[in-house]
Amino acid sequence: MEDKLILAIESSCDETAAAVVKNGRTVLSNVISSQIALHTLYGGVVPEIASRKHVEKVIPVINEALKEAGVTLKEIDAVAVTYGPGLVGALLVGVNAGKALAYAAGKPLIGVHHIEGHVAANFIEHKELEPPFACLVVSGGHTHLVEVLDYGKFNIIGHTRDDAAGEAFDKVARAIGLGYPGGPKIDAKAKEGNPDAIRFPKAKVEGAVYDFSFSGLKSAVLNYLNHAKMNNEPVNDADLAASFQKAVVDVLTEHSMALVKERGYKKLAAAGGVASNSALRASLEAACKKAGVAFYVPSPILCTDNAAMIGCAGYYEYLKGVRSGPDLNAVPNLKLGER
Ligand code: KG4
Ligand code: ZN
Repeated sequence: MEDKLILAIESSCDETAAAVVKNGRTVLSNVISSQIALHTLYGGVVPEIASRKHVEKVIPVINEALKEAGVTLKEIDAVAVTYGPGLVGALLVGVNAGKALAYAAGKPLIGVHHIEGHVAANFIEHKELEPPFACLVVSGGHTHLVEVLDYGKFNIIGHTRDDAAGEAFDKVARAIGLGYPGGPKIDAKAKEGNPDAIRFPKAKVEGAVYDFSFSGLKSAVLNYLNHAKMNNEPVNDADLAASFQKAVVDVLTEHSMALVKERGYKKLAAAGGVASNSALRASLEAACKKAGVAFYVPSPILCTDNAAMIGCAGYYEYLKGVRSGPDLNAVPNLKLGER
């Protein structure tokens, strides 16, 4: 089959990203313009500031991706763009840029589901990986345990009832005063601490063994901090970070392994920003090894938001014949598996 080149655009949150991907799994360029420094000032992503920054960066980032890949717009076979879920104003920038480029160059346009992209990051890193497999998707906005039945085809087994795993990391980091973005800060701090120093609750959802709940854990951390403050007791931030992280990692690992065992999967993948957490990677790896299950996870740069993953997911949609019309719109609360 002839080589297929996908130009991909991602702007769902605070990263303006563009990539050129060959045949779904070979990344020719992967340009990411992060807004982290900008949002750090406010302790979190400010949607309107994110949108404005995307407007400024989207064309330069796309140009850079084409240049790095050494291809022109004419040589591209299709334009793939994230159209949901995410911040509406942020998504609209990428969607509009993608539409304009596809229209001007006379190329097909493919709207891609952001979470489908996160899962697809595994295909880039692990050339031999093919569905079906079980996958834990953990990002700033999503926590899902799914069966990946085929490319772009999912069966949702469990999801969070309240906060997403990444959201819990971010909120707890803010409470300890580690700042934004919380995940990497807690990850680093936890390395200096004792994960068994403080026993935090591992939330279970009654009657739904695969579902997650992180708001109780977040409250437990806040209560711990308030209690210490009221009693004038010192708080060991490193122990707190390590103990909180362990509580999250243990639940994510237990649920993932339960799914793998119950359905007889021999392959487990992890995806999304939180999958770059060093403790989670180590825990899943060890549990899989023990269970004789192959474990897959993208390198950290492909776990957090990027456009290469959108190019990969877009390629498989392209092969299926999926095309978006000129009326493609942003869908901020797009559900996994929905088109
Ligand atoms: O996938 P992502 O880049 O964006 C969304 O789609 O949400 O995920 C961002 C989330 C943030 O909550 C961030 O704190 C978390 O992933 N994260 C981490 C780590 N790196 C990023 N969480 C834990 N440990 C990390 N090393
Ligand atoms: Zn994401």
